Amino acid sequence: MIEIRNLHKAFGNKKVLAGVNLTVDEGIIFSVIGKSGTGKSVLLKSILGLLTPDDGEITIDGINTKNFSESDFNKKIRPKTAMVFQEGALWDSMTIEENIDLALQIQKHFSKEERKELIDKSLELVELENINDTYPEELSGGMMKRVAIARAIAMKPKYLLYDEPTTGLDPVLSNVINALIKKLNDELNITSLIISHDITGVEQISDKVGMLYKGEIITVCDAKKMWDVEDKIFHDFIRGKIELR
Ligand SMILES: Nc1ncnc2c1ncn2[C@@H]1O[C@H](COP(=O)(O)OP(=O)(O)OP(=O)(O)O)[C@@H](O)[C@H]1O
Ligand SMILES: [Mg+2]
Repeated sequence: MIEIRNLHKAFGNKKVLAGVNLTVDEGIIFSVIGKSGTGKSVLLKSILGLLTPDDGEITIDGINTKNFSESDFNKKIRPKTAMVFQEGALWDSMTIEENIDLALQIQKHFSKEERKELIDKSLELVELENINDTYPEELSGGMMKRVAIARAIAMKPKYLLYDEPTTGLDPVLSNVINALIKKLNDELNITSLIISHDITGVEQISDKVGMLYKGEIITVCDAKKMWDVEDKIFHDFIRGKIELR
């Protein structure tokens, strides 16, 4: 379980997170929606310790990460978490296999044979067998996203954080990625926290949805009931009545 209590983060005098409270129960898909620039990526990066909150607490499986050092995060949190970054974040000069292998070498202590098996298995799970020797520039945007997901699941995470996994993809590819996220959640017993603007996808695959607004999570509801929410900000946002930018 991920529990976030009263999380604050500012950059200079700009308050981004101003008291975020959020609970992600084990095994579910939780999606966070919200306008561009509201701090959704900052929230994910704070969970992984890539950004340090100014105040508040993040507890993962009962481990409170407040005042954690880089080495504490490496030892206690990052082995059970993986993130699919908004930009994909693949190294252009490396093949797909080398990209996944590098991440595995940094994060885990597997033998070369074990790493090879994990790489092949994770590429198979995203239905991209045999692209091991391909370079990122040879892939389409949708394939790139799937490689980023393969790299994350190769780490065998308990928690998978996705930062806008379908942004920039056409509706068909978005469906493919959403179905993949659901499949991984079910088959690998992963708990997923997704940041997304893709309201249709959010409704299809999520168990719970929360909205980040002005630095706080203002509404949390069952995804199936999101269209019944009366809170005006949430109601208008999912219907596209607030400009995204
Ligand atoms: N490292 C940083 N240094 C300074 N400001 C930052 C930093 N990271 C984020 N910000 C600022 O924090 C705010 C929230 O950024 P964030 O990337 O979390 O938005 P977002 O909700 O993910 O938006 P989008 O939907 O466009 O991805 C922005 O105003 C951004 O400029
Ligand atoms: Mg973002």
